[in-house]
Amino acid sequence: MGGRGFGVMLLDHLWYVVEKFDLEFTLFVGACEKTIQYLCDTVSGFQIKKIELDYPVSDDEIVSRTEVALQSDSRIKLVLMDAITSLPGVHFPWEQVCELCRQHNVYSLVDAAHAVTQIPVDVSKTQPDFFVSNLHKWSYVPRGCALLYVRRHLQRLLHCIPIGHGYVSASHPFVPSPVQTSPEGQWVTEHEWAGTIDWSGYLSVDTAFEFIANCGGGEKIREYCHGLAVQGGDRAAEILGTEVLKCPGSEYTANMVNVRLPLDVPSERSGTHLEELAAQREMLFDSLFERDCFPYPFVMTRRGKREWWCRFSAQVYVDLGDFEIAAKMLKEICETLQGIDFSMVIKKQNDQKVAEEMENMALDPEASYKN
Ligand SMILES: Cc1ncc(COP(=O)(O)O)c(C=O)c1O
Repeated sequence: MGGRGFGVMLLDHLWYVVEKFDLEFTLFVGACEKTIQYLCDTVSGFQIKKIELDYPVSDDEIVSRTEVALQSDSRIKLVLMDAITSLPGVHFPWEQVCELCRQHNVYSLVDAAHAVTQIPVDVSKTQPDFFVSNLHKWSYVPRGCALLYVRRHLQRLLHCIPIGHGYVSASHPFVPSPVQTSPEGQWVTEHEWAGTIDWSGYLSVDTAFEFIANCGGGEKIREYCHGLAVQGGDRAAEILGTEVLKCPGSEYTANMVNVRLPLDVPSERSGTHLEELAAQREMLFDSLFERDCFPYPFVMTRRGKREWWCRFSAQVYVDLGDFEIAAKMLKEICETLQGIDFSMVIKKQNDQKVAEEMENMALDPEASYKN
């Protein structure tokens, strides 16, 4: 849903700019890369520039690299950033980067899929131009529910996909609309009904925020979850005999914490590296699912080396014991996987495929002539 909100913003906004002013459009990317690749493929003159972040990277470095880029390329029109990145799950200095965008007269687009309720959000203070946050990730709302914020003077640039029943055409303003204008205004009306969808997520928002209030409010939830993420991350690292992803001077952990796994990525020198990694990943995920254990393992490149890490999420219904159980399960799984030679697994799979093909050919002697 956050992805869809992102698509709505980017597609519509960029089409407007490209068609109206025929500009070369450049932007920075932190997430939702496929939408941007699609735009590069379909919009002539559209360009992207990506700042690769090799974690652990400090907030100061992210801000200064963005500033250097903005100073050195006046064609940049929009900066796309995360509020909290997904993998690794770390807080991103989005408030400072939005401020930089304002100073350089460049639009800011915040993919805040993980933000609302996980961190305090005050759009009137930070003033992003475009901001989208899922509510199903951290706000206890069922899946498929996100919040889209656009600064009022930019709302005219954006329409929903598909175009809503409340859309009023500039050239045909009198075509009747089946929907009544919302007290929130025309732009909201336009987004209110864009075809039949499951409304249950949206209708649950009030109840979810009542639940948050009953827990003592967002601040109280954050205090508990942040404390648990820090403590749980340290304990998991201790059990796994590894480390927590940290960077001096930057607070990475909101309610998510990243811990390295004691598991080597298959050698990149192997000719079947990608297949080996896929097989290893599948076994790792299957082993976790079999145990009903859902921290999120991922491969991250750190100082040029690919490593297995795992993202743990703290929640009001989780406690330190859950981190310990998950870490112990991961330890056991990693020990098993570490002993497997995945180049041999792939070789065996490939040999088996060849044997099966030969067997099929033997059963059907004409098969070789049929191709
Ligand atoms: C940073 C980030 N952006 C966007 C998305 C996409 O959200 P959705 O699947 O709700 O479209 C995710 C989902 O995990 C995410 O982590």
